[in-house]
Amino acid sequence: MNFANSINDAIQLDRVVFLGRTLSEYVKFFDLDLSQWQKAKILDCPAGAASFVAELHQMGIDAVAGDLFFNLDAATLQAKGQADLAHVIERLADVTHNYNWDFYQSIEKLSTYRQSALEKFLADYPHGRQAGRYIQTVLPKLPFGDRSFDLVLSANLLFLYSDCFDYAFHWQAILELYRVCSQEVRIYPLQGKNAQIYPLLDNLLNDLNNAGISAEIVNVPWEFLKGSNQMLRLWR
Ligand SMILES: C[S@@+](CC[C@H](N)C(=O)[O-])C[C@H]1O[C@@H](n2cnc3c(N)ncnc32)[C@H](O)[C@@H]1O
Repeated sequence: MNFANSINDAIQLDRVVFLGRTLSEYVKFFDLDLSQWQKAKILDCPAGAASFVAELHQMGIDAVAGDLFFNLDAATLQAKGQADLAHVIERLADVTHNYNWDFYQSIEKLSTYRQSALEKFLADYPHGRQAGRYIQTVLPKLPFGDRSFDLVLSANLLFLYSDCFDYAFHWQAILELYRVCSQEVRIYPLQGKNAQIYPLLDNLLNDLNNAGISAEIVNVPWEFLKGSNQMLRLWR
């Protein structure tokens, strides 16, 4: 279903923002039952300023976060995270009609969630980076061996920013996420910032099928950007 009238109706961001969600949000948009993954090794890529890996670590679950900017120190990421949060909040005000506010209720509460994720991420980052929990990754390549992770999650980059990437990038990145997983890959959302479904999704599903990779579209109990209540799931 098309909820936005045109690309001009999309949130106007001038960059891929360094922002993050909390574990409670990840659980919803990936429809995760963490009791199934207690002994698993999990990759979150790109992780941005999400607190997902930090919170999993506190629960004793083995997880690694990868992002383009994890070559930077905590102070630089804090400044970037704050600037990008301010940019998103300012631009979101123009397109609130593209979003469902059942969960967040208001831009202010959404900002509180993003701020909380940023703070929990920053609290874990210095030690976590030394421990190998935060690793610079530059998609469409990943610096990990084949089947290094049981579960690989990728949120709010690939299809969301599809205006920034071509099909070759998507294909290579998805093959790479699949290469490093031994069980499942989940990618969310399937929409671009304009709330339109990724236009080459059928192509992609066809190419995955031809490559012998099991793939399906799965409903999830989350819909902030209108229509974005599905993820792509690949499995072995
Ligand atoms: C909007 S954040 C999403 C973070 C997190 N997954 C979430 O849902 O909260 C997008 C992230 O993608 C990262 N990024 C952009 N291009 C990338 C690339 N080629 N390889 C790895 N990370 C990239 C950015 O640095 C940014 O942190």
